[in-house]
Amino acid sequence: MEPIGPLMMEHRLIERMLQLVQKEIQEAEAKQRVDGAFVDAVVDFIRWYADRTHHGKEEAILFRDAAQKELSSQDRALLNELIADHNFGRRTVTQIAEAKGQYLQGSEEALKTLSEKLRTLIDFYHQHIQKEDKFFFPAAMIYFSEQEQKAMLEEFWQADRKMIHTKYGFIVGEYEKQK
Ligand SMILES: [Fe+2]
Ligand SMILES: [Fe+2]
Repeated sequence: MEPIGPLMMEHRLIERMLQLVQKEIQEAEAKQRVDGAFVDAVVDFIRWYADRTHHGKEEAILFRDAAQKELSSQDRALLNELIADHNFGRRTVTQIAEAKGQYLQGSEEALKTLSEKLRTLIDFYHQHIQKEDKFFFPAAMIYFSEQEQKAMLEEFWQADRKMIHTKYGFIVGEYEKQK
């Protein structure tokens, strides 16, 4: 399997979550009420799965190694754009978490902001995933030998193996600060 295989499979799960977000926006607008627990689940999913697990492998392994290659100017520009996209995604999810907090405190504006930001998140991920699946991923693989691809895939598995421990180590650490 090429290393882009698991990354593309992860994109499919992100898309499934985005479909649920789309449904939640419609329901929230119809009822003028948001399912706060679902928004928490979305924030957790985006931060830990889409960002740390998925973007983490892209940035710390694939993009790191691709940046060492003699990329065409088009591929290098796209690589830089993808990195900037990840930062935009992080800012957007922080805004979603903030708007949800304001909504819970009774802000009337926050419901509108929350659905706007959730829409931004959906549009952002669709575009970002297209750029990777259709353009950057297939283009990037050409620069790597079969051996390099195998090593990259192994590094991906190693990163995945650590993630569940990182996540719950973080959560326990956060509660230790509060309790
Ligand atoms: Fe990405
Ligand atoms: Fe991706």
